[in-house]
Amino acid sequence: MALSSAAASALLAQDLPRIDTSFRNRSDLYLLAENGYLPVTGFMNAKDTASSAETMHLTTGEPWSIPVIFPISAAKAAELKGAKKEILMDGDKPCGVIEIEETFEIDKPQFNKNIFRTEDEAHPGVAWLRDAGTHSVAGKVDVFPDWELEIEGDLAISPTAVKKEIAEKGWKKIVAFQTRNPIHRAHEFCTKIALETADGLIIHPLLGETKAGDTGADVRLACYKVLVENYYNPAHTVLAGFPAWMRYAGPREAVFHAQVRKNYGVTHFIVGRDHAGVGNYYGSFDAHHIFDEFKPGELGIEPIKFDFVHYCKKCGGMASKKTCAHGSENHVHLSGTKVREMLLAGEYPPVEFTRPEIAAILVEAEKKNRS
Ligand code: ADX
Repeated sequence: MALSSAAASALLAQDLPRIDTSFRNRSDLYLLAENGYLPVTGFMNAKDTASSAETMHLTTGEPWSIPVIFPISAAKAAELKGAKKEILMDGDKPCGVIEIEETFEIDKPQFNKNIFRTEDEAHPGVAWLRDAGTHSVAGKVDVFPDWELEIEGDLAISPTAVKKEIAEKGWKKIVAFQTRNPIHRAHEFCTKIALETADGLIIHPLLGETKAGDTGADVRLACYKVLVENYYNPAHTVLAGFPAWMRYAGPREAVFHAQVRKNYGVTHFIVGRDHAGVGNYYGSFDAHHIFDEFKPGELGIEPIKFDFVHYCKKCGGMASKKTCAHGSENHVHLSGTKVREMLLAGEYPPVEFTRPEIAAILVEAEKKNRS
């Protein structure tokens, strides 16, 4: 929640410990304060962190697949001994306050084994945890009334704003689409097929921190906007921003992504091939299978699972192996590396792969990168 101005002034008048925040911390702080992570309402304590990592459930028995932690150094943990509150700083501006419940040592091997399913430091999530503090501070959070999360673009990012939009449109069955990439024909196909069975679609790109090498949020936003304006029906589609950061935790993150979208008022969530994956750490459909580990209805949001989709020259359209039996020589599939090479050379990927409007933005962005 946001503090009242009086409560904020009273806090600042005390000599409370202060700590700098990273962009990742601020994304989590924002989503906690906006009820985006319900049933989680604060940075998680040792017991819930262990329980979530080991069982995908909190100690209360509620599902939760990725612990939300606030890593700090051992020295900071020692400094916080006995402290009841701590002010979180966004540069020189206070952004939030933690009601300190405890500090604890993070069990990094347990986190890596269960959340990232690897110890390989080439995995961006494992590398993040390796470089993060050894301890974590747990407790409920509030945000300062004049603080805003600085995030790329001008899209609605709070669950409340998105829920309001859904209510105004009168939608009952709503499907959300997570993405951290420029939007290609495969993405467009999945969203449109899903929308055919629903009242509304939330295109919900992740705008928090991503790894080096992923396309920047500014470029992606330009792609999302041009696609939505030209190829979707505004009566049934909303483009909103998702201020979380990427963990690259594949299946665990697919569940996390779905649960958080439930808090945005969404009823169905698209999970395609290698959702939230990176490299070859996860099987292409591990993010489908993980949903079967929950009881029916337990997550409060239903996954809509997509097989690998591609353009088929014989079909003359997008398809998957469910709908197309033609040989792979008829399929247009380009790896991320190949697309990158084409863009670097100033070439547009084929129209069957990417809309020309999107290709133009991506080629232009590569040109700027090089100059
Ligand atoms: S993600 O990290 O946000 O999952 P990305 O933006 O590439 O990455 O994917 C967004 C969603 O589209 C995910 O659910 C992903 O599984 C799905 N997806 C991407 N490409 C394909 C494809 N060719 N076939 C099926 N699903 C896909």
